[in-house]
Amino acid sequence: MNNSVLITTEKLVKRYPMGEQSCLALDNVNLTFKKGEFAGLVGPSGSGKTTLLNIIGSLDIPSSGSVKVLGQEIASLSHREAADLRNHHIGFIFQTFNLLPVYTVFENVEFPLLLLRKTESERKKLVMQALEWVGLTDKVNSRPGQLSGGQSQRVAIARAMVKEPEIVLADEPTANLDADNSHHILQTMEHLNQDLHTTFIFSTHDEKVIRYLHRKISLVDGKVAKDEAQGA
Ligand SMILES: Nc1ncnc2c1ncn2[C@@H]1O[C@H](COP(=O)(O)OP(=O)(O)O)[C@@H](O)[C@H]1O
Ligand SMILES: [Mg+2]
Repeated sequence: MNNSVLITTEKLVKRYPMGEQSCLALDNVNLTFKKGEFAGLVGPSGSGKTTLLNIIGSLDIPSSGSVKVLGQEIASLSHREAADLRNHHIGFIFQTFNLLPVYTVFENVEFPLLLLRKTESERKKLVMQALEWVGLTDKVNSRPGQLSGGQSQRVAIARAMVKEPEIVLADEPTANLDADNSHHILQTMEHLNQDLHTTFIFSTHDEKVIRYLHRKISLVDGKVAKDEAQGA
């Protein structure tokens, strides 16, 4: 079970129109991700990291080539089917946290469960469990404005994990955090990866994140330049 393939990209190409020309954001990307990986897309700004995460997350579609996520071809999904795939199976973590400021921590983490039509008692149990994973049960009634950056990102991790998705995509999750908080959230995600076998795929150019990766995929100008295992 731990070796099952969750994501495959084959000859993946993404072009963005740019006036009369086009920008080649992903150039023939062939990658496979298995259950339980702790992998990172590493490369300078503009190398295609976000584009690749967005396509894997069914937020965008390839220009050509194939991307299969949990057996489904991303380009052939309707909007509804893509939303179902995301809502059930994929958690997102963003560099700017993207918490909803008027809602409490509880309500922010609860949100994905409302989309899944969980009952109130199920939601309460799952939200409290997720807040326990990230060590924030004491902030359940706080609002995002009352939290530090590190605490905000831990709420965002809880929100991504609350539905126990197979896949979590984290786009530069430490970009707005100091060193201590960066280590703390990486350790939190590493524990969740070990305990729940959730597959994590990061994008980053932060050395503090790169150290934690079990697999480092280097992107240069939209191409995979290197794909190497790292000692855990
Ligand atoms: N929506 C878009 N429209 C046009 N060009 C884009 C768009 N998104 C990304 N690009 C271009 O695609 C390339 C890869 O961008 P991106 O995936 O954001 O890289 P990274 O996340 O590694 O910084 C860049 O040259 C960027 O300018
Ligand atoms: Mg990016």
